[in-house]
Amino acid sequence: MNHLRFNLNGEWIEERDVSPTTTLLRYLRDRLGMTGTKEGCAEGDCGACTVAIAERGGDGKPVWRAVNSCLLLLPMVQGKHVLTVEALKAEGAEGYHPAQVAMARALGSQCGYCTPGIVMTMFEATYRADLDAPWKLDDQLCGNLCRCTGYRPIREAAEEVAGSCPNDRFAEELKQAAPESIALDYEAKGQRYVTPTSFEALWRELDAHPDARLVGGGTDLSLEVTKKFTVLPKLVSLEGITELKALTELDGGFRLGTGATISELEAFCQERLPSVHRMVRYFGARQIKHRGTLGGNLCTASPIGDLAPVLLSLGATAIIRGRAGERRVPLDEFFVGYRKTALAPKEVLGAIEVPRVPSSARAISYKVSKRRELDISTVSAAFFVDTDAAGKVIEARLAYGGMAATPKRASRAEAALVGQPWSEATVELAAKALATDFTPMSDHRGSAAYRSLVAANLLRGFFDETREVRQPALAGQHAATVQRGEEVPRG
Ligand SMILES: Cc1cc2nc3c(=O)[nH]c(=O)nc-3n(C[C@H](O)[C@H](O)[C@H](O)COP(=O)(O)OP(=O)(O)OC[C@H]3O[C@@H](n4cnc5c(N)ncnc54)[C@H](O)[C@@H]3O)c2cc1C
Ligand code: FES
Ligand code: FES
Repeated sequence: MNHLRFNLNGEWIEERDVSPTTTLLRYLRDRLGMTGTKEGCAEGDCGACTVAIAERGGDGKPVWRAVNSCLLLLPMVQGKHVLTVEALKAEGAEGYHPAQVAMARALGSQCGYCTPGIVMTMFEATYRADLDAPWKLDDQLCGNLCRCTGYRPIREAAEEVAGSCPNDRFAEELKQAAPESIALDYEAKGQRYVTPTSFEALWRELDAHPDARLVGGGTDLSLEVTKKFTVLPKLVSLEGITELKALTELDGGFRLGTGATISELEAFCQERLPSVHRMVRYFGARQIKHRGTLGGNLCTASPIGDLAPVLLSLGATAIIRGRAGERRVPLDEFFVGYRKTALAPKEVLGAIEVPRVPSSARAISYKVSKRRELDISTVSAAFFVDTDAAGKVIEARLAYGGMAATPKRASRAEAALVGQPWSEATVELAAKALATDFTPMSDHRGSAAYRSLVAANLLRGFFDETREVRQPALAGQHAATVQRGEEVPRG
């Protein structure tokens, strides 16, 4: 298709002359004059711009997802149903959506600037059937900031509607809204956006335009548009290739398609790969997780990208795809320098293979940031330690983010563990060796000395946390502190 077509608040819209790097937020406000959706930060941090989009859930059925319209380029909603806060108002007795009624009743709004975004986040929560633990509600709300009201009334309002799943017109619309991968080749204002729906079409596009930029969910790339005002003349989206999204079980492990979003990964890993799930829990906010992908996270090769350390600790392999076929690279060798990967031109990261964690092993990930939720890591760490029947370490992988120019394993500390009893004394030797593995830098998030101390303390915390239970239940617990028990006490 060579024009944009999507359903906005129940009506199909076609566009032919809007630049493909126009964000949905700018389109709504500037082109359509729909100012209910607000702009706070234009970088995914405040949630004021939240809208809902119909996507396929893990079981294949369509679900409403809250997303940041400031990070969505207009071609990313091709063929999809989009709802803004304006859609919630109904004529007659229904009047307002239950999320709006609950917010008003709980006195959850003062100046009101954040309110449309919060209501759209609560809109998603209203139709979620899986909100079965208190941490999931925190996770649902953490992408929306409010500077006036205080979060208690907002949380109370969310608790009232979350998971209520009313059988209303939005539930009805969802039945018609199943999004499919739609091939797109759209050009306007000198910029082109292509969505191939097969690998063959992708290779053709990359052969013809080797300088085109790839884009997954766009949560990183869109910032180049909104913050740096970069003109991106050619974008090739990976979202149309269904195979890239697959999350599958293999005989000895799992194959994680790099097109899977972080929230899809979160659902897949909860039981299967708890240490990945632990990291993903504290990754961005729900709006970011609905768009950001595994591939985008690894291919930026950020030293503080959160998925690299945990996948390194699990001994993952990168499956790189190009026209010539597939090649396998241990993830340790994928990050070749500061923000550089082993990908050659015209190659994509297709999948990550992760071996199953044996029951004799301990594996946990940690994220230390200034704020618990929706924040960038200062230091992240993920550990895998396997022991034999006598309690001797037979395999150890200790991986860190924020300690070097790339996400990296601590090979000297690992060597200090292997062959030794898994004991406090051994962990102290490994903690000392860590000092020779890394020379971290100081920046506004933490000094070198702080980072080194945190890195060693996380290893100590890991030992303590897995002393009695090899794989403790962690989903509701803080990302960086040693806690025992089911729930972290509030307050
Ligand atoms: C508010 C906010 C909060 C965030 N929080 C976190 C966080 O807590 N932790 C964290 O680690 N990150 C975080 N991020 C960063 C970002 O969301 C993630 O890195 C995300 O996973 C990127 O995925 P994407 O699909 O959106 O990437 P995109 O923006 O689509 O792509 C990023 C880059 O990767 C390339 N790329 C994408 N997929 C492939 C592929 N399969 N093969 C080859 N190249 C590819 C693209 O060409 C592009 O250059 C945050 C970002 C924002 C805006
Ligand atoms: S404007 Fe702040 S998240 Fe979009
Ligand atoms: S009510 Fe003012 S920012 Fe939330």
